[in-house]
Amino acid sequence: MLNGKKVLFSGMQATGTLTLGNYLGALKNWIELADEYECFYSVVDMHSITVRQEPSELRKKARNLMALYIAAGLDPEDNCIYYQSHVSGHAELAWILNCFTYVGELNRMTQFKDKARKHADNINAGLYTYPVLMAADILLYQADVVPVGIDQMQHLEITRDIAGRFNAIYGDVFTIPEPYIGKQGAKIMSLQDPSKKMSKSDENPNASIYLLDDPDTVMRKFKRAVTDSEACIAYNDEQPGVKNLLDIYCAATNTSIDDALKEFEGQGYGQLKEAVGESVIAILKPLQQRFNEILADKDYLDNIIKTNAERAQTASLKTLRKVQKKVGFPERVR
Ligand code: TYM
Repeated sequence: MLNGKKVLFSGMQATGTLTLGNYLGALKNWIELADEYECFYSVVDMHSITVRQEPSELRKKARNLMALYIAAGLDPEDNCIYYQSHVSGHAELAWILNCFTYVGELNRMTQFKDKARKHADNINAGLYTYPVLMAADILLYQADVVPVGIDQMQHLEITRDIAGRFNAIYGDVFTIPEPYIGKQGAKIMSLQDPSKKMSKSDENPNASIYLLDDPDTVMRKFKRAVTDSEACIAYNDEQPGVKNLLDIYCAATNTSIDDALKEFEGQGYGQLKEAVGESVIAILKPLQQRFNEILADKDYLDNIIKTNAERAQTASLKTLRKVQKKVGFPERVR
């Protein structure tokens, strides 16, 4: 508990441009939960360097992501929105937690296996211990709840295991976090290959809707989306492309699948794609407008970056000092 409320933590990587998957799977839920919890939303730039980044690009993307969080509707006065690299406790706690994580556990991480395959020339130790840094992010703030898409579930499970293991040795130090997976949009698939998740790093730009795509691009990508030859709007695994379009529509408009199926009864794929495109454009247009306004106001954004880093630093130190003491580090002499 912090300020009488339960704590929420979540983060996104500052690599690539956010996709509709990031928005519907995570950001949208963050906004819905924001009032109920004391929230920490991090731009996890330290995770980003597990794959090679061009420094000026990373800086730019991190700032864009900060602006996108706010543009999407997170109030930076009520919520602590900050860069992970500005709070030293993330790396310090990650080191300690590394010593409570087994190599066998890390070997099972599917995201590591995928990324190691994709970046075979740079399978670095950071990529391998990535989930431990993620556990540190969450545990540092004693988060009760972590809203994420389905692809992050395995990382949440290892976080819970590490926290439980630490608590079993040292007493109740960490809150065991619960994942929060939204009812809709928790796994948005590629528009070009609906067996793969929509991803920032997809090489085919038509596979993903980016949050900064203009309306014509959004509509064009939906019109090109892969469907099937059934010519019947139904929600099942045999028609993964249509299923994905329905998922997007329902998450974007807060409609149930049953209602959407009624709405599209007797219609063709062209009409479905048009409606999905419109529903997404209705979200992206105001978001992009606010994004541009926020980025243009340098002083406003700088002030948020500074004050929220201080807030996060203060909040995180409490847990960090407790953990350092528990493991036996000598007390600081004042
Ligand atoms: P990242 O940056 O890959 O994704 C950010 C969030 O978006 C969700 N997401 C999706 N949801 C639905 N459909 C999709 N196609 C889709 N693609 C991505 C992700 O599940 C995630 O919630 N390791 C994390 C970042 C992180 C983090 C944390 C998250 C670092 N520390 C602590 C929570 C708590 C990641 O790379 O997310």
